[in-house]
Amino acid sequence: MSSSPIIVALDFPSEKEALELVSQLEPGRCRLKVGKELFTRSGPELVKKLVKQNFDVFLDLKFHDIPNTVARACQAGADLGVWMINVHAMGGKKMLEAAREALPTGANNPKLIAVTVLTSMGADDLKEIGLNNSPADQVKHLAALTNNCGLDGVVCSPQEITLLREDLDPSFELVTPGIRPQWSVTGDQKRIMTPAQAIEAGGNYLVIGRPITQADEPMVALEKIESELGL
Ligand code: C5P
Repeated sequence: MSSSPIIVALDFPSEKEALELVSQLEPGRCRLKVGKELFTRSGPELVKKLVKQNFDVFLDLKFHDIPNTVARACQAGADLGVWMINVHAMGGKKMLEAAREALPTGANNPKLIAVTVLTSMGADDLKEIGLNNSPADQVKHLAALTNNCGLDGVVCSPQEITLLREDLDPSFELVTPGIRPQWSVTGDQKRIMTPAQAIEAGGNYLVIGRPITQADEPMVALEKIESELGL
């Protein structure tokens, strides 16, 4: 169990590479995110291994299906001992409520958060699927729905933090990727913030991949981010 706001994204094509990086990290100093690629390749056994090494694991599988199926998938994730699970808010109220019901707050259950609008989608992409709201309005709308269904928070881009903090409870948690320390390369991320800026704006957890995973010395990179955050 960690108290760190830093979640390291394990975006690796194989268990071997993921474990090599993990062997250089300390469970008290960061949490880990396992996404669709690594999970599809290496599956629940890898997740169990990470949990056994005392890491808090964010299972980033973005469940989106009928309520019963999502509830059961969430339960299956909880059975792996993960710390955080996410679903798509676009699955609607009944699906969000079913997920929450499967994983009641507390009771040693994982935190349950939702994805609103994928940051890869702009206004034109939303129109194409029949949504006439602007991305910002759609994000706000889905975050409010997520909050009303009792989930713990949403994934959002750093630029959305201020917008969402305007009218959501302070206890509603914001998990943000798109984080780049000043000293790191931007890569393909466009709308970015530094770790300190994102926390200052009201973010709770920072998903950070390449600045740590591709560093020559990942723990040194992590330390630099910790000191930027005053940890
Ligand atoms: O390497 P980098 O720090 O860009 O990794 C960010 C992580 O956050 C990746 O796992 C990426 O898939 C994820 N993510 C993102 N932007 C989003 C949602 C998730 O970068 N809007």
